[in-house]
Amino acid sequence: MKTEMLVDEAIEELQNKINDTAIIACSGGIDSSVAAVLAHRAVGSLLHCVYVDTGFMRKNESFEVAEMFAEMGITLKVVNASKRFFSSLEGVIDPEEKRKIIGEQFIRVFEEEQKICGAKFLVQGTIAPDWIESGGGERDVIKSHHNVGGLPEDVDLDIVEPLREFYKDEVRAIARHLKIKSSERQPFPGPGLAVRVLGDLTESRVEACREACHIVETRIRESALAGKCDLPWQYFAALLPVRSVGVHGDTRVHGETIVVRAVTSIDGMSAKYSPIPHEILASISTEITNALKGQVNRVVYDITHKPPGTIEWE
Ligand code: XMP
Repeated sequence: MKTEMLVDEAIEELQNKINDTAIIACSGGIDSSVAAVLAHRAVGSLLHCVYVDTGFMRKNESFEVAEMFAEMGITLKVVNASKRFFSSLEGVIDPEEKRKIIGEQFIRVFEEEQKICGAKFLVQGTIAPDWIESGGGERDVIKSHHNVGGLPEDVDLDIVEPLREFYKDEVRAIARHLKIKSSERQPFPGPGLAVRVLGDLTESRVEACREACHIVETRIRESALAGKCDLPWQYFAALLPVRSVGVHGDTRVHGETIVVRAVTSIDGMSAKYSPIPHEILASISTEITNALKGQVNRVVYDITHKPPGTIEWE
């Protein structure tokens, strides 16, 4: 079906479903932005858009998302909830537990916002791979995506998911059609950097991952623009709780490890690792170890396809 018709159909369906105040969590990513723009077109000021800063966002992300919504003429409320996310995750290292806690905290923040605006509906940007990989149908739970896995049973909101049957490439086409600025942005997981920091989620470890992600994103994007490599579908860094011995000048360092991940994919359901040229990887490695002196002294490159790996490390 043509994108234009998909959009019209989705807006009509939203108009039929939403007959009262609705709330949506906007991360700035493609999925939630498309869901928000569709819902805003469908019900206008009945929709309350909320951006939750969990503390696990990328560098400058909160500012850029607020700016994007302002440019689209949609009011966005920014809630800084990082303190509560960090404290609820203290000492938690199991990936599934992290995802469940993040999902639950998200919903709790929402309940508070719901009470403020009196929302009866919760619009979510859930897409097909989210619920398939969260154990939809007969499948095993691979990962509980935070926008489905963490939903407690006692939430008194009607869930509306306009993108539930779509895959990433289709959502991207809709985003382009709607002229959403983040349509070309690479995907970013709902739980953010929390699933890229393996082990303890301390503020300094998350900050290290944020800086490394920024370096990887910037250098790979620049290299692709300069024709030195193809732009991967997704490219980022994760921090591993693996300490190895290194040296900075004359000083012994017992630092942690950054893994660089870059993949090509169509919809995130399967992926091939990207063969990023070695000179680009080498400069990324140097930049990361310089920026994170004393904290990270080793950088490795992930050459695993999906399957058997997943794209994210948690
Ligand atoms: P995996 O790691 O499962 O990721 O191969 C597939 C794609 O989904 C993204 N991802 C998520 N997106 N909530 C999301 O909205 C999540 O909890 C989540 N976990 C992974 C991942 O970045 C990749 O693009």
